[in-house]
Amino acid sequence: MTVRRRTFLQLLGGAGLAAALPGCSLLEEQQTGEMVPSRARLPRRFSVPLPVPPVARPVRSTAEADFYSITQRAADVELLPGLSTPILGYDGIFPGPTIVSRSGRRTVVEHRNELTVPTVVHLHGGHTPAASDGGPLDLVLPVGGDDGTFAVHEGGEVTMGRREYDYPITQRAATLWYHDHRMDFTGAAIYRGLAGFHLVHDDVEDALPLPREDRDIPLMLVDRSFDEDGALQYPAVDPMMHDQPGVDADHLEGVLGDVILVNGAPWPVLEVAAVRYRFRVLNAANARGFELALRPNPARGFVQIGSDGGLLEAPVEHATLRIAPGERMDVVVDFTEFAPGTEVTVVNLLGSGSTDAVMRFRVTRRQSDDTAVPARLSEVKPLQAPDEVTREFRFLRRRLPGGQGWSINGLTYDPMRVDAEIPLDRVERWRLVTDVHHPVHVHLDPFQVLRRGPHGPGPYDGGWKDTLDLRGGESADIAVRFRDYAGHYVLHCHNLEHEDLSMMATLAIG
Ligand code: C2O
Ligand code: CU
Ligand code: CU
Repeated sequence: MTVRRRTFLQLLGGAGLAAALPGCSLLEEQQTGEMVPSRARLPRRFSVPLPVPPVARPVRSTAEADFYSITQRAADVELLPGLSTPILGYDGIFPGPTIVSRSGRRTVVEHRNELTVPTVVHLHGGHTPAASDGGPLDLVLPVGGDDGTFAVHEGGEVTMGRREYDYPITQRAATLWYHDHRMDFTGAAIYRGLAGFHLVHDDVEDALPLPREDRDIPLMLVDRSFDEDGALQYPAVDPMMHDQPGVDADHLEGVLGDVILVNGAPWPVLEVAAVRYRFRVLNAANARGFELALRPNPARGFVQIGSDGGLLEAPVEHATLRIAPGERMDVVVDFTEFAPGTEVTVVNLLGSGSTDAVMRFRVTRRQSDDTAVPARLSEVKPLQAPDEVTREFRFLRRRLPGGQGWSINGLTYDPMRVDAEIPLDRVERWRLVTDVHHPVHVHLDPFQVLRRGPHGPGPYDGGWKDTLDLRGGESADIAVRFRDYAGHYVLHCHNLEHEDLSMMATLAIG
């Protein structure tokens, strides 16, 4: 039995298990991790209004590009009412400012590091040349310079104080996010606040009658744990984030918190009109998986219109929405049938106690609605993958000299080693195999799911994916093709504690 006791009990407590039981073994895991209980007094749920992160304004624009500037700095912010929480923030806020790009228009983001530790910025889901992809060794050192307290690995492209990330944005409309990606410390850095949205729009999306503007709302879901004084409690081996990677022995499976934050607010509430809304749901948690459901449930539930890599071909209705760390689900929720005064709660079937709900909508008024979810959304051309498996990646627990860690094909991450050489523009069939639950993420280009276990793709596997929610003991085939940009990229588990404890591999592309 690979399920840790507490995770297992948590599953038993969740209604999700009952739903998942028929035909599945009890070993099927939906998340791994151990709780860090908060010591702070938790606020009453559904009382804080939902914040929406501010949209960044370009510092300048040319005929072909927009230029942004973001300062990474420490700040004290109010996440729990009445308490002050020290964070590491893009522009000192959590989530960071949302960057909005137009497909086909270059976006250049200068990051200035005013923190005391090195950082790396990765645009998750971005089709980005290697130099701007945010490789784990490509550190941006603090503006204050290298004081000798932190590890700088050989082989990275290190810059002093600042770096320009140059994004061609030649991809279709999609919900991307940017976050820290420093080798060994990604879990700690994101936990403390280094994450934000980056949205891409295009003409295909604009031509659809979907809800837009203030009815197109990004929702960043995380779980956190708070100390009495409001400080975040991350069980790092090296809380200063200098050179010792990892978390204490109790949390090697992943760090779970008991406070659910949406866009940085605990269990917030959003007032809505009785019309359709589009929500771009991002699971930015370190290890927690969510299975969301609406109570009461509108007739069509969640109407999924997009996934990691943008719009689906056609909408898919879900009674529940399963989302693993790193994944995005673009959904439309129709509140039309609810009378003003109705409260619609987003519950989490994988949670228990304080984590069994995420947020709430309060229907306050009727309003006319000229939006619609068309039967056809976009074109998703299937990749023609070979029948034979081109390569296999096995995501496995592994003993390390200092304790337990995580491996891919039995190997822990070594940035100096190339794990796979992949030609450009060739469609490959990859087999991904797991021991326990692992959300697997591939950089550079999205993929398509061909098969999950003995069946075809699962209900959430449609369209273009860059992160695949693989349960324990599962095997899936994906069709992968890298269009362009030769260079070194990574493939890793997006459970950030697994990633930092070496569940990462290097792909030499082209
Ligand atoms: Cu969202 Cu390589 O990460
Ligand atoms: Cu990524
Ligand atoms: Cu993992």
